[in-house]
Amino acid sequence: MRDLRDFIAAIDERGQLRRVSGVNLELEVGGLSEMVRRDDLSTALLFEEFDDTAPGTRLMTNVLDTPTQVTLALGYEPTSDIREAVVAHKDQLSETETQPFEVVDDGPVFENVQRGDDVDLTDFPAPLWTKHDGGRYIGTADAVITRHAETGALNVGTYRVQVHGPKTATLNIEPGRDAGVHENSFFERDEPFPVAVSLGHHPDIFMAGNARLPADVDELEYVSARRDEPLEVVRGEATDLPIPARSELVIEGHIHPDDPERITEGPFAEFTGYYGKGETNQRPLTIERIYFRDAPIVTGYNNVPMSAGAMSAVRSAPKLWHQLEEAGIGGITGVNTILPGVMFQAISIDQQYAGHSTQVATAAMSLPAGSWEGRYTVVVDDDIDVFDKDEVLWAMTSRVEPSEDFQIITDCVGSKINPRIPPEQKAEGDLTISRAIIDATIPYHWKDEFPKDTKIDPELETELRAKYGDQVFEPET
Ligand SMILES: Cc1cc2nc3c(=O)[nH]c(=O)nc-3n(C[C@H](O)[C@H](O)[C@H](O)COP(=O)(O)O)c2cc1C
Repeated sequence: MRDLRDFIAAIDERGQLRRVSGVNLELEVGGLSEMVRRDDLSTALLFEEFDDTAPGTRLMTNVLDTPTQVTLALGYEPTSDIREAVVAHKDQLSETETQPFEVVDDGPVFENVQRGDDVDLTDFPAPLWTKHDGGRYIGTADAVITRHAETGALNVGTYRVQVHGPKTATLNIEPGRDAGVHENSFFERDEPFPVAVSLGHHPDIFMAGNARLPADVDELEYVSARRDEPLEVVRGEATDLPIPARSELVIEGHIHPDDPERITEGPFAEFTGYYGKGETNQRPLTIERIYFRDAPIVTGYNNVPMSAGAMSAVRSAPKLWHQLEEAGIGGITGVNTILPGVMFQAISIDQQYAGHSTQVATAAMSLPAGSWEGRYTVVVDDDIDVFDKDEVLWAMTSRVEPSEDFQIITDCVGSKINPRIPPEQKAEGDLTISRAIIDATIPYHWKDEFPKDTKIDPELETELRAKYGDQVFEPET
């Protein structure tokens, strides 16, 4: 599978693609995408035929909502089971494995080129995703390609891109991101910062862009290694940056250190389900080239309150699981991040000694993969399926004595997007938050006396399904 079009064919074949035409980019695209995720419709949406963009331009959303889509994108055996998707990625997770990409002279992304006066970003679909967004966002599942001025190290990251005019956009780069380091490396030399942004591509490029890989890993080389095939790239005319040759749409330009202009970026509907960060002032990205395939498809990813989608779990849970195991902690049987990011971590263990559950929880909330913007770390026994919210809630009620099993840790890592940090605290630059550990395991020292649960035996369940399936579970209508 070499590009987005191959991926679309693969999900279409599995009944996970719906084409929708004539939809308005003002709120309708965002609204439908949110409803499809929230209602678990297990389908991506390919929006076609907009009124106010260049003819033929398209936009795709809900691209990685299901385990099937995520496993197909990552080249694993396709599965509709989220646990299997998380385990597949955990077993293959190697964040440092890379393979050189291949520079080629030409590729489909060069089918159409806008230069000089022709450059017009408003030709392409950029939705107003939710009602209080500060403007139209074209980059939500993007891949922002940058390099370090001194070392030449390359990075690909997902940073949202807001459209401000035909030749002007902004990037939202949070503190500490590799692209921010790259930007400073150019600004320190008083040189413009070169940027290329792929706005539509195979979803493995998007996943690599937001995977928080180590700074010395080039995500284009990481994608090549994951595919076991060099990713073909072309060189951008304006920046010489490598651009995936089969991308759908790419913008290229510079951010100038001496640009006196500041543009208001945001607010934007964030993964917490709020507009927590609000507005900031950004230097403009001046667009010098736009490259696109015939009938280009922009890829979009909108955050949906209360719903994570498969990508979020596959992006966060395997990494945390992996880091817990690498830390040498045994007995871990499942890790899930139930809400987007690591806001709600659920970890199951085969309890092996007194204090095991607290050790796991404190590690999970402190390791790099579990620390940023987390709220609850819940540890359950291994008879609880962490991929089933109902089971986790049942353990949190039936196996927890709140006065004993809750621990609150203060001064943890939060961020500007946190809706619950009071404005005065944010103004002082204090972005710390507290976190709760909930030990929902059966108390270790009297586990043998804990009442037996009443769950049906798995053998009886299998037997009854086989015996009465057609009468009770899948009756013919
Ligand atoms: C859908 C989505 C949107 C994101 N938007 C942003 C963003 O606007 N700004 C940002 O700094 N990080 C954003 N992130 C997180 C970064 O992409 C992620 O931390 C990435 O690994 C950063 O890479 P870097 O450290 O190599 O720069 C987003 C992640 C996802 C999944």
